[in-house]
Amino acid sequence: MYLKCMSHLIPEEQFKKTKAIVEKFGAPGGMGEFLQKKLVERSEHKANWVYDYWLEDMYLSNRLALPVNSSPVMVFPKQNFTSHSDTLRFAAHLISGVLEYKSLIDGRALPVDYARGQLAGTPLCMDQYNKVFTSYRLPGAKMDTLVAQKSTVMPEPEHIIVACKNQFFVLDVVINFRRLNEKDLYTQLERIRKMADIEEERLPPIGLLTSDDRTQWAEARSVLIKDSTNRDSLDMIERCLCLVCLDEPSGTELTDTNRALLMLHGGGMDKNGGNRWYDKPMQFVIGADGCCGVVCEHSPFEGIVLVQCSEYLLRYMRGSPSKLVRAASMSELPAPRRLRWKCSPDIQAFLTASADKLQRLVKNLDMNVNKFTGYGKEFIKKQKMSPDAYIQVALQFTFYRCHGRLVPTYESASIRRFQEGRVDNIRSSTPEALAFVKAMDAEKMELLWTAIKAQTNYTILAITGMAIDNHLLGLREIAKELKLEKPELFSDTTYATSIHFILSTSQVPTTEEMFCCYGPVVPNGYGACYNPQTDHIIFCVSSFRDSAETSSDLFVKTLEGCLKEMQDLCLKCNSESKPTDSTEKMAGNTKIPVKIQYSE
Ligand code: COA
Repeated sequence: MYLKCMSHLIPEEQFKKTKAIVEKFGAPGGMGEFLQKKLVERSEHKANWVYDYWLEDMYLSNRLALPVNSSPVMVFPKQNFTSHSDTLRFAAHLISGVLEYKSLIDGRALPVDYARGQLAGTPLCMDQYNKVFTSYRLPGAKMDTLVAQKSTVMPEPEHIIVACKNQFFVLDVVINFRRLNEKDLYTQLERIRKMADIEEERLPPIGLLTSDDRTQWAEARSVLIKDSTNRDSLDMIERCLCLVCLDEPSGTELTDTNRALLMLHGGGMDKNGGNRWYDKPMQFVIGADGCCGVVCEHSPFEGIVLVQCSEYLLRYMRGSPSKLVRAASMSELPAPRRLRWKCSPDIQAFLTASADKLQRLVKNLDMNVNKFTGYGKEFIKKQKMSPDAYIQVALQFTFYRCHGRLVPTYESASIRRFQEGRVDNIRSSTPEALAFVKAMDAEKMELLWTAIKAQTNYTILAITGMAIDNHLLGLREIAKELKLEKPELFSDTTYATSIHFILSTSQVPTTEEMFCCYGPVVPNGYGACYNPQTDHIIFCVSSFRDSAETSSDLFVKTLEGCLKEMQDLCLKCNSESKPTDSTEKMAGNTKIPVKIQYSE
């Protein structure tokens, strides 16, 4: 399957060499057989044989800065705040929702998710939800650690960190075993706002350090913790439920694209870039100008969990009217605390470097959020095709139109059907997709069907744990664990090419009016997140400006053309001849056994 995935994406000579390497690896009595046996042994004493390897490979050992490169965001509909109290009222309401949602998680009261779409109906592992408010990604010199706190049913002192004007405040949400109500929360937020306004007490924007690359931040942190005040402040942040970032107005027009950019990087140090703490999984951003959303540290859970939580909150806020009649003028509650920092000249130097790097990232991100209104998933379903497979083939078509070739592509496939399952990869640049995009002149419809079928087959393999990326990772890592020399399969150029995902894609559907987006995962690549709706599809395409090869605007414009051409093709062929053999034609319909075509 690996060879089939790579054969049409690399030069012929290189392919021949790789084929020989793969055959040697897979030969009876060869290294592959040995490592496979070890991997099977590992699976016997682990709930999930790939989880640790995957977490380390995908996130913890990745040294790139979290904003843009790793942390996806949800962008909420623009809010209309007319005053600071409006903003704080929204924040208090949202925090109330967060506390409700957290008590559902802690009480194991969230309804179990079930798979939809392909192979619908299977219950899904709920483990990721437990990490939403309890984990923290600690930076390390070589590798980060995902720290998880044990959650308890009993209310215990719990706090949120509120970021305002680059200052961090502790907002206790459980005091004397009682959860603060919305009115109390509002009062506390108002006090925080006032404290943040006192210019003489402002401390340096330490949060900027968390936007740096991981090794650099680990180094800065090791200097920071030498001081006990800093240590205490860090400890409070690391143990909080989540952050609420009260942002200053950005001064930009709040289009979809600009809101996505502001959510991804805060607009740099002159705007709200320092008003963040990227190591914490959930940061709710509430901008005074109405730019709101969530920034998410990705290692503890997937985008789908982020969507579920965000949608709960938006529904909660819509359904439960704000319980603020009038703000309390006086409160018995202890005042929120400002976190203190002692900044040595070393820390100042780290801060300057982090701010510079964030500024470069801000300048470099080329983003285009586009609502394609030509049609949505209903049209595609009417063609008896899987909407997801269709959109993936359209993305391949677009890439081919823009760049004249196909590249290793990543599409996240949920493997939550398995205990502790996260994702595997659907390699969407199938040979069939290449044949289709090349052909667009003759026999197009037949080839579109074949490409859709190949994509759907791959999806089913991936979601049932039969794709290759996690398996190869397992073999690679177990060899490392056994201190064996790296098998040639993994030092081969083809392998490096195969995991350099120029196109990194993900379906993140929502039922509320919001969208998810993220950055590219390689310097010369695209991040393409899509949200298929009944009659339209939202695409969030990102790339880096300093790559001469990519352009998000061009990609999106081409994509619109490709989707239109595919629609014309479907309409033309459907009016000429309806598919006759439904077993053949209903690519992607889960009720029909799908022929797995990846064995040689
Ligand atoms: N004819 C008609 N309808 C079809 C069809 C066909 N041939 N094939 C599928 N459909 C329907 C499905 O029944 C489904 O209907 P519904 O909207 O009523 O539920 C709908 O089209 C969507 O199905 P499909 O487009 O095939 O996609 P999917 O929902 O199965 O999603 C993946 C496929 C790979 C995206 C999904 O399995 C997955 O893994 N999602 C998680 C991705 C993820 O983790 N994202 C976040 C990463 S951070």
